[in-house]
Amino acid sequence: MSQSDPAAITPDTLLALKQNGEKIACLTAYDASFARLLEAAGVELVLVGDSLGMVLQGHDSTRPVTLEHMIYHAAAVARGCQQALRVVDMPWHSYDTPEQALASARRLVAEGGAQLVKLEGGAAVLEQVRRITGAGIGVCGHLGLLPQSVESPDGYRVQGRDTEGAATIRADALALQEAGAAMLVLECVPATLGAELSRALRIPVIGIGAGVDCDGQVLVLHDLLGVSSGRRPRFVKDFLAGRGSVAEAVRAYVREVKEGIFPGPEHGY
Ligand code: KIV
Repeated sequence: MSQSDPAAITPDTLLALKQNGEKIACLTAYDASFARLLEAAGVELVLVGDSLGMVLQGHDSTRPVTLEHMIYHAAAVARGCQQALRVVDMPWHSYDTPEQALASARRLVAEGGAQLVKLEGGAAVLEQVRRITGAGIGVCGHLGLLPQSVESPDGYRVQGRDTEGAATIRADALALQEAGAAMLVLECVPATLGAELSRALRIPVIGIGAGVDCDGQVLVLHDLLGVSSGRRPRFVKDFLAGRGSVAEAVRAYVREVKEGIFPGPEHGY
């Protein structure tokens, strides 16, 4: 994407969508062809997620994903996307210190064409967020269920159900915004908390299993297409079922997100 392209989506575009009450549609992509298709279907935000470790590489967690893997897939997505905003995940152990975080983020931007980088966690990564944003690189936070912290398959659980857990997520969200994050992914939390944080934060909140009142929604592309293996989380919907093409499925997702139809109560907590 060229920053001078007037149709190119920027963090400010997403902020304006939030302010106007228009929902933001986000999906993961890992290659040029799908990135092109998502963009043509109206997806504003493309996430090169480290979920690729599970849906592309066949691991049972995101932890084996390396910075090299992320750069490879991010660069492919960048070749397919002209206008959608590209966020790229920082893999596990690529941001253990502020210095390492900045060096990793710089590589994702320079070699992978990332426009923002995403990292998981709250209080533990604030200095990393400050360091990266201080160098002029946009950051997306990630709170709630943190896949890089899950140590066994039964660790994929709803977060923030109790008062203390919700208070920590709330405090982390405000601190990330204060540290300079431009947006926040909120995963697997009660819908009431998703709604509350979307109201409380200035920056867009993109939910996955966080209820319909978030500012936008994200799904893993393979989940949306019904081709993921293993246990299907409650927040997933197969949009290809009953539809004739991948493009049609993605257009249906964008429409349902924009109209506040997806996620329904049956997809939430
Ligand atoms: O890696 C990923 O795809 C993600 C989404 C689940 C939000 O972080």
